[in-house]
Amino acid sequence: MNHPASHEAVQAILNRRSIRRFLDRPVSNDVIRDVLRIAARAPSGTNIQPWHVHIVTGDARDRLSNAVVDAARKGLRCDEYAYMPARLKDLHLARRRKVGHDLYDLYGIQRHDLPSRKEAMLRNFHFFGAPVGLFFTMDKYLLAGSWLDSGMFMQNVMIAAQALGLSSCPQQAWCEYGRLVHEVLGIPDEQILLSGMAIGYEDTSADENKLRTERADVHDFTTFHSL
Ligand SMILES: Cc1cc2nc3c(=O)[nH]c(=O)nc-3n(C[C@H](O)[C@H](O)[C@H](O)COP(=O)(O)O)c2cc1C
Repeated sequence: MNHPASHEAVQAILNRRSIRRFLDRPVSNDVIRDVLRIAARAPSGTNIQPWHVHIVTGDARDRLSNAVVDAARKGLRCDEYAYMPARLKDLHLARRRKVGHDLYDLYGIQRHDLPSRKEAMLRNFHFFGAPVGLFFTMDKYLLAGSWLDSGMFMQNVMIAAQALGLSSCPQQAWCEYGRLVHEVLGIPDEQILLSGMAIGYEDTSADENKLRTERADVHDFTTFHSL
């Protein structure tokens, strides 16, 4: 790379990873407000800033975790929207399987041990031990452009958090229990839940945080058009 890879913005982007075990160390509301203030500089088409954020900590966090873990154990899914098509193309399926296998290997879970995989998955609903959970929503009547805007905002949240010494894990898993998240947090029906996100301080001793995901080479996903 010709540009300085030591640049703080580049470092925050390169160092961000999805973290799946957090320390039991509180994060102040002021720091969360700072992260969101920075993140809200995200661009959005015609600057409509479609995002809302619902923040859960303390008792509200525990109440939500208990309700969703209970529903998940009973198999009471209530999906907010379809994140993935029912069938993925081979290339996408292979990437999805790779990250899943790598993660279960770090957890020490055999690939065919479905009960243990389910238990590991349920850790999502404890925010992987993070003290703060964020829920990103936007007005339901908005269209695809606002999903794009909201994704940029979410990425900004993760990069700003990283720059301020925090770690994160985006969590679409919560949307599998979207109706329940709405109910417990009193999120208005005119808002759609896009994703959850755990925020906190990384437990650097945890095996699952050793996951380093792969990326395709630039030439695999680019086409330069010059003539
Ligand atoms: C919108 C979105 C939703 C995600 N949902 C989950 C989730 O529910 N649980 C989880 O453990 N990881 C989730 N991830 C994390 C991805 O697995 C992760 O970003 C990917 O494997 C790349 O790894 P990295 O974030 O460490 O670079 C999600 C990521 C995104 C962008």
